[in-house]
Amino acid sequence: MASTKKVQELKKRREEVQRGGGEKAIQKQVAMGKMTARERIVKLLDEGSFNEYDLFVEHEARDFGMDQKTLHGDGVITGTGTIGGRPVCIFAQDFTVAGGSLGNMHARKITKIMDHSLKMRMPLIGINDSGGARIQEGVNSLAGYGEIFFRNTLASGVIPQISVILGPCAGGAVYSPALTDFVFVVENISKMFITGPEVIKTVLGEDISMEELGGARVHSEITGNAHFFSETEDECFEQIKSLLSYLPWSNTDVPARKELKDPLKKYNISHIVPADKKQPYDVRNVIRSVTDSSDFFEIQESWAANIVIGFGTMGGRTVGFVANQPLILAGVLDVDSSDKAGRFIRYCDAFNIPIITFVDLPGYLPGVDQEHAGVIRHGAKVLYAYSEATVPKITLILRKAYGGGYIAMNSRHLRADFVFAWPDAEVAVMGPEGATNIIFRKEIATAADPEKMRKQKVQEYKEKFANPYVAAAKGYIDSVIEPWETRKSLLHALEVSGEKSVGMPAKKHGIPPF
Ligand code: HXC
Repeated sequence: MASTKKVQELKKRREEVQRGGGEKAIQKQVAMGKMTARERIVKLLDEGSFNEYDLFVEHEARDFGMDQKTLHGDGVITGTGTIGGRPVCIFAQDFTVAGGSLGNMHARKITKIMDHSLKMRMPLIGINDSGGARIQEGVNSLAGYGEIFFRNTLASGVIPQISVILGPCAGGAVYSPALTDFVFVVENISKMFITGPEVIKTVLGEDISMEELGGARVHSEITGNAHFFSETEDECFEQIKSLLSYLPWSNTDVPARKELKDPLKKYNISHIVPADKKQPYDVRNVIRSVTDSSDFFEIQESWAANIVIGFGTMGGRTVGFVANQPLILAGVLDVDSSDKAGRFIRYCDAFNIPIITFVDLPGYLPGVDQEHAGVIRHGAKVLYAYSEATVPKITLILRKAYGGGYIAMNSRHLRADFVFAWPDAEVAVMGPEGATNIIFRKEIATAADPEKMRKQKVQEYKEKFANPYVAAAKGYIDSVIEPWETRKSLLHALEVSGEKSVGMPAKKHGIPPF
């Protein structure tokens, strides 16, 4: 048994280190509306579950007066714990200790817990709150970042990796979150940028605040770097717990089952989609009308909102949903929505999550801006991601499936396992008006009454092509179903594809257009 004296000494040492950067620095942290690193860990993990590693690690820097400084825990807290009873690895940078700056030992604490999470196959959660590379440690700090990026990449697609930005995350520090699967930001607290306002002022002579440059809203609405936005840290931690409830703990695992009730009556699927093809509607209500208890957890809600992605539960299992959103830009595919969908499809595929795709789009967004922004290169990501994915892939065409949009949105040709369509679906190279103007141009121009002729030709085209039956006759659509049959059909498709097994040609890896 340990002597009382030794136990007392341990307690004293622990208490001292756990005070982080001291009372003054903690008060500054609180005044900024932030929790301390230790409070964050305790809030996020199941009560009493945190098991801390490397509490007594100290920095080894000797230059610029560092030999005179003690940095408790070297500015980062690491360890394991549980969320919802399941094990996770976690680190939280402690801004009260040298601004949470990353030196050699700080990085080694992080890489040690990263190695642990990969070896033990459990999610890694990183809470970022740091002034970046510790300037006094020079290249050792840069080396530390490199070691972290390398491990993020190794772990990608093996275990879920979550980044939480709860303070500054500046310079190269941003690239660890960017390499992880999901990034969480909180209003007024998160600040993420490569070059800060001072550099911008010096180089470009422009004045900009940290908030305007890389605040939480910027990354949730403009850059797409963040996947989840919240107004408080508490709300953010609840979001993380919700997200984890949909995920498997590794790529050899399946998500835990959830017992939820049937869809709520308030989402009556027969009345959500207007018959008028030009009328918008919220496709999220279609998703909610087919999931258990209308369960839908949306990802990147405020960025590239012309496509909707997220997790829902069907028959107790996690499903990834990808859906064109007719409310925004008629649900077109463009540069950002292609990036958003492509990455999510690859996530689902890596983690054994079946994908359900709802289609209603006029095609890719036309225009010089999009062409010059690389809509060809970005749009190709969707084709690549669907073609490469080997998880069960189910498609439902709700209304329009025109042109490249039809092919890209998990068509049979990209190896959809099941393609359903509603009776109102239209599968064609383009919409009736556009098609008529092109293929009947001469007839319309030379007609005695061009407008009458145009209408007649539009009608002819609609009867011939603007329906699901031409595609169904070729077997590109497996089944035309009534809206009320949707949930039953999707559940059946999921059930019978539980043991899906397909081979891909042997290769080291593909070359996706990223
Ligand atoms: C060493 C740092 C530090 C750093 C902050 N501190 N950043 N120490 N290296 N990078 C220290 C401060 O000296 C201070 O110490 C304490 O942390 C708190 O910092 P403050 O400046 O007082 O806090 P605040 O006013 O809130 O400002 C926060 C901040 C600012 C905006 C983050 O500190 C800042 O601009 N820091 C530098 C950011 C940066 O340029 N980092 C390098 C990026 S380059 P005392 O002892 O006074 O309490 C980079 C390259 C990585 O990261 C490349 C990887 C590929």
